[in-house]
Amino acid sequence: MSKEERNITWQQSSLNRQDREKHNGHRSRALWFTGLSGAGKSSLAFALEQYLYEKGVHCYVLDGDNVRHGLNRDLGFTAEDRQENLRRIGEVSKLMVDAGLIVLSAFISPDAQDRNMVKQLFEADDFIEIYVRCSIEECERRDPKGLYKKARSGVIPHFTGISAPYDIPEDPTLIIDTEELSIEEAVHEIVQHLERVGAFQ
Ligand code: PPS
Repeated sequence: MSKEERNITWQQSSLNRQDREKHNGHRSRALWFTGLSGAGKSSLAFALEQYLYEKGVHCYVLDGDNVRHGLNRDLGFTAEDRQENLRRIGEVSKLMVDAGLIVLSAFISPDAQDRNMVKQLFEADDFIEIYVRCSIEECERRDPKGLYKKARSGVIPHFTGISAPYDIPEDPTLIIDTEELSIEEAVHEIVQHLERVGAFQ
C-alpha cells in the first residue's frame, strides 16, 4: 500500500540531524555488531558505550536480549521473526542516528540479506558493520547463559550455529576477533576507527 493510500505524510521538524550533531559536539553513526551468541557482542558494545559516555559522547546500546524483552517481545527465532526483529531495529537505529546519537546495535543478525536490508537504510558512511568473530567451539566453551548446552540437548530450537545458520560477513567494516583481543583492546580498535572516519569532529 502506498503512503497516500495509508493517509500518512512525513512531518518536518524545524531541527535536523546536523543541528543535533552540532549540539552534541560529534557526528552520529550506526555501529552494527554481528556475531554468534557468546562471541562478545553485548560485552563489547556496553564497554564501548561506557568509554564513549565518559568522553561525553551521546550514545546508546540496542541489545538483542534487551530489545526482545519489550519492543520485540512478540518475535521468536524463526528466519521470518529474525528478519522482522532486524527490520525494526534497523529503523530504530536510523531514528537514533537522526537524533544525533552514536547507536551501538548488538544483534546476532545471522542472515547476510537481512544485514544488507539494514545497511540499505543508511548512507554508506553512517553504517559501520563490526563482525565480532569467535569460533563456534569457543562460543560453546564460554556458554555464558547455558544456551549452547540447552540447544545441544534439543531444548532450544533454531539455535544459531547449532540448528540455524550464521552467514559470515563478507565485507565488514571491522573484524574484531574476541579470541585474540581483550575487551579493552577491542574498544581501542573501534575508537581508533571512529577517529579515522571523523566521528568525533
Ligand atoms: S537475531 O538472530 O539477531 O534476531 O537474535 P538477537 O535478537 O540478537 O537475539 C539473540 C539473543 O537471544 C537469545 N536466544 C537465542 N539466540 C540464538 N538462537 C536462538 N534460538 C535463541 N534463543 C534465545 C540469546 O541470549 C541471544 O543473545 P546473545 O547475546 O547473542 O547470546
